[in-house]
Amino acid sequence: MFLTVCMNPTIQKTLRFTGLVTDRVNRTSCYRTDPSGKGVNVSRVLSQLGKQCLHLTQLGGPLRPLFLDLCGKDRIPLQWVESESPIRFCYTLINDADRSVTELVEEAEPVAAGTEGRLMEAYQQALGGVTWVIISGTKAAGFSDDAVPEMVRAAKAAGKKVLLDLRGEDLRRSLRYKPDIIKPNLSEFIQTFAPEDAGTGGGGALEGRIRRIALGLAGEYQCRVVLTRGAEPVWFAEGSRFSEAAFEPAPPVNTTGSGDAFTAGLAAALETGAALADAVLAGIACGACNARLFRVGAIQG
Ligand SMILES: Nc1ncnc2c1ncn2[C@@H]1O[C@H](COP(=O)(O)OP(=O)(O)OP(=O)(O)O)[C@@H](O)[C@H]1O
Ligand SMILES: [Mg+2]
Repeated sequence: MFLTVCMNPTIQKTLRFTGLVTDRVNRTSCYRTDPSGKGVNVSRVLSQLGKQCLHLTQLGGPLRPLFLDLCGKDRIPLQWVESESPIRFCYTLINDADRSVTELVEEAEPVAAGTEGRLMEAYQQALGGVTWVIISGTKAAGFSDDAVPEMVRAAKAAGKKVLLDLRGEDLRRSLRYKPDIIKPNLSEFIQTFAPEDAGTGGGGALEGRIRRIALGLAGEYQCRVVLTRGAEPVWFAEGSRFSEAAFEPAPPVNTTGSGDAFTAGLAAALETGAALADAVLAGIACGACNARLFRVGAIQG
């Protein structure tokens, strides 16, 4: 049983155009509306993999009934606390003319005072019934910087397995509690642990530095490090070993949420006792399925 946590839910509109032109009226009859946010995507894919999962989030505002209805249709069991922060929209614009995928993200309004306490209480209660905790994505404004590290601390103190798809201070400050596995994408990893390399374009020297940093974290915190890189091979570190898993890239339709699909596949495999290299392959299979679909964060359309 998995507990997935997302502190920044959204309603995701995905719109596909044969040709998208700025400064013009663009019409399409190809669009959909999905509940999203990283943790919701992970939950949807876990559910599609036949895994049991409870999703914990904060919700507020007039669109909450729509979000709950959409989660029900996707068979995502949900526990939520009142936040008074109106649930936001995010938009994915797919342009077939140049094969571009453009993300438009509304930043959430701050959650109300008291939300963090309610969420922590619900989290503590939910922890008892699960074996794995997956915490993904950013948090809405209004949560303290202690919220995520405290969730990791409590999960590890309760003997749970913890997977983090986080970046920045939430990730850095959670490491001391020894999560079992961290899975940012490469650019999030660079932003977090090697900001001086951000935007340098990569190359062999960068790979060497990333390998050293990943192995350093794996050694210091006894955690496994998995770095996805879009259509490029996945890098992963365990103990003193750094490996790469290559795959055949698919012609993508919508890669949004591929990292979340990867997380679900990885966690589902690890939960059954798979070795990390095999779990990474399971993650790659789910990431590729997601990339081929129009629907966000899914392995079934
Ligand atoms: N074009 C593609 N073809 C096949 N697989 C892909 C493609 N793009 C992504 N994937 C799979 O999905 C995984 C995760 O992708 P990526 O690194 O883009 O995640 P991400 O940036 O965390 O995405 P998100 O946060 O939107 O979920 C990749 O490691 C790969 O296995
Ligand atoms: Mg991601």
